[in-house]
Amino acid sequence: MAQTPENKAAWLSGSKVTPPEIGPAPYTAPGPHQMVVRNSAVGINQVDWAKQLLGEGLLGHISYPFILGEDVAGTVVEVGEGIERFSVGDRVVAAAGAISLNSSLEGGFQLYTVIREWLAAPLPDSITFEQASVIPLAIFTASHGLFDTEYLGLDLPTVPALQSSSEKGTVIITGGSSAVGSTAIQLAVSAGYEVVTTASPKNFDYVKKLGATHVFDYKSETVVDDISAAVKGLPLAGGYSIGDGSIDLLAAVLAKHEGPSTKKVIALAGGQPGGGSLHPSVAVKFILLGPDAAGPDSVTGKVYKNYLPEALASGQYVPSPEAIVVGKGLEKIQEAFGAHMQGVSAKKIVVSL
Ligand SMILES: NC(=O)c1ccc[n+]([C@@H]2O[C@H](COP(=O)([O-])OP(=O)(O)OC[C@H]3O[C@@H](n4cnc5c(N)ncnc54)[C@H](OP(=O)(O)O)[C@@H]3O)[C@@H](O)[C@H]2O)c1
Repeated sequence: MAQTPENKAAWLSGSKVTPPEIGPAPYTAPGPHQMVVRNSAVGINQVDWAKQLLGEGLLGHISYPFILGEDVAGTVVEVGEGIERFSVGDRVVAAAGAISLNSSLEGGFQLYTVIREWLAAPLPDSITFEQASVIPLAIFTASHGLFDTEYLGLDLPTVPALQSSSEKGTVIITGGSSAVGSTAIQLAVSAGYEVVTTASPKNFDYVKKLGATHVFDYKSETVVDDISAAVKGLPLAGGYSIGDGSIDLLAAVLAKHEGPSTKKVIALAGGQPGGGSLHPSVAVKFILLGPDAAGPDSVTGKVYKNYLPEALASGQYVPSPEAIVVGKGLEKIQEAFGAHMQGVSAKKIVVSL
């Protein structure tokens, strides 16, 4: 690179500091199998504003000043040794690994982020940076919970999608209209599983378009019986939990299910338990995105390398939900936190840079 670019970041300068401080940040050259991306759009996740709000109560391993941000889309400006899949000038979407490794140079809320090549995919010209920035943490969380053997251990997704079959198994993914849920549905369908999900009625058509076979209103008093009836006699490949009360719902369905095989495991992305006692036959495993989950041999790496590029190019995977752009510039990050905090429905909050 002829001249080192001037970098700028939204720094979380200390515990609970609001808003983040916008100021200079070092530009870090990429190491082996890393590249630097000039971000054009970043997505906002609950963990970002929750960390700001809770301070040491969340992600206590993070040291200040810190650069949060997990979802980036932009253009490759420098590649490190050993990179073969990407070149300078490529449009990419990528998961920024800052939180997993307490590493600000890998934070998304800055102009230039160091990215590990296995957590990135080329972005077709037909997809805007803003729309692409809804993908990264959602793919990360969905992939780890669905495909890692510590959780549901499903077969990996393929392009073209494997023929969905109820004989292979049905996975129940609650919160199908959330960002993570929208992704989990598409990945599970691409891996050949049938998906039963929950959402508000206004989002029923949306989740069916993503590939869900059945959808039920999570606020309905009969939701457990309705889901049980829908999966009666079928092999169940497990539950993926998003949304308050979903653990209880999934545990109730899995515990009483009678079918050829039932994986009585719930991969828990987020949401509070409803307060009931869970059946002892059902294991609940919180999806922890630690350093191993972001490693080169992780299932997420495999999804980024072997599935996402072709799935995006062919339209098999559609970046979902719709991006709502709060504004342009790092100064808009705090406003974007506020917008997400107020709650979204089948939408993702995004900032252009
Ligand atoms: N473990 C991890 O590492 C990790 C990583 C990322 C995210 N998460 C967690 O995963 C969850 C989803 O994140 P996200 O960013 O995808 O969320 P999001 O898009 O902000 O979630 C909003 C959606 O949640 C749905 N929802 C709310 N309560 C629900 C319930 N009780 N049952 C079913 N659906 C419900 C809403 O559906 P309707 O509008 O249709 O009602 C809405 O579309 C959050 O709890 C987040 O903290 C965990």
